[in-house]
Amino acid sequence: MPVYRPPSIRPSEITPEQVYLSRRQLLGGLAGIGLASAMPRASGQSMALVEPPLSFTRNARYSTPEKANSWSDITQYNNFYEFGTDKADPAQNAGDFRTRPWTVTVDGEAELRGQFDLDSFLKPHALEERIYRLRCVEAWSMVIPWVGIPLGEVLKRFKPTSRAKFVEFTTLLDPKQMPGQRYPVLDWPYAEGLRMDEAMHPLVILAVGLYGRVLPNQNGAPLRLVVPWKYGFKSIKSIVRIRFTEMQPKTSWQQSAPQEYGFFANVNPAVDHPRWSQKRERRIGQGSLWDRQPTLPFNGYADEVASLYRGLDLARWF
Ligand code: MTE
Repeated sequence: MPVYRPPSIRPSEITPEQVYLSRRQLLGGLAGIGLASAMPRASGQSMALVEPPLSFTRNARYSTPEKANSWSDITQYNNFYEFGTDKADPAQNAGDFRTRPWTVTVDGEAELRGQFDLDSFLKPHALEERIYRLRCVEAWSMVIPWVGIPLGEVLKRFKPTSRAKFVEFTTLLDPKQMPGQRYPVLDWPYAEGLRMDEAMHPLVILAVGLYGRVLPNQNGAPLRLVVPWKYGFKSIKSIVRIRFTEMQPKTSWQQSAPQEYGFFANVNPAVDHPRWSQKRERRIGQGSLWDRQPTLPFNGYADEVASLYRGLDLARWF
């Protein structure tokens, strides 16, 4: 099991509490006299100043000892097609996205179902920090200190029935707020799914924070999935619905290009994407554009999760 090492955060990335508070008071005061909108919108490194801090405990057991990427790497190089298809688009376009009030609907094959205000949905759970690798299907990776709650514990609360074989997740559909949804890039809303045993695995979390602070909008605020052994696209952002299903749910990328993106989407260096190799990856923020490191099966989480796929031909079920 990897040993925990606290993330190496540069002093510039952490705002002392007093500075943070006085800045919030300042912004609050300015808002009163209508000047807040004249302040430049925080983005990248400076955004750490305006994201409120969270209380959490660190989970050493499920954290990689690798060096975490910087706040600016993690918040300025994003895939969130609802806010544009370029890596810089989400940080540019998601600033005004409203993440409160936020309702999560839980339905399908479960004894308990309903619509929950986000805070009551999260309330029974204690927040944990976990440092995970994220490997995108585009052959780049990052190391991210998430703050979240184990998905399995959340799902158990709703008492899934014996017919619940899969869990489907859906992102908010709101083209007014999400300009990317005005274009048929994907069949909106973005949807993802996990097999029930995958969803219950203790490595899977619902994240609400990053670097000890509330999740920035471009990273999937207010609630996103993190499945560290699967390609990044399984980690769906801005979730409004969690549904227990008997049948395998349709996922956005599988629907859009089934020959390229399978339901499982496990990180697998032995199975190339039809248009590029998955053998190596570029760690964002390290080395030159051409530096590559080997990609590990299941993104390095094989000891924990390979047993979920025993007997499955992973070249066929990619
Ligand atoms: N979720 C939604 N709703 N829309 C998206 O476009 N992109 C996915 C995933 N979740 C995406 C999404 C992809 S391809 C990746 S690699 C990760 O989010 C990126 O997460 P990050 O921007 O926080 O690093």
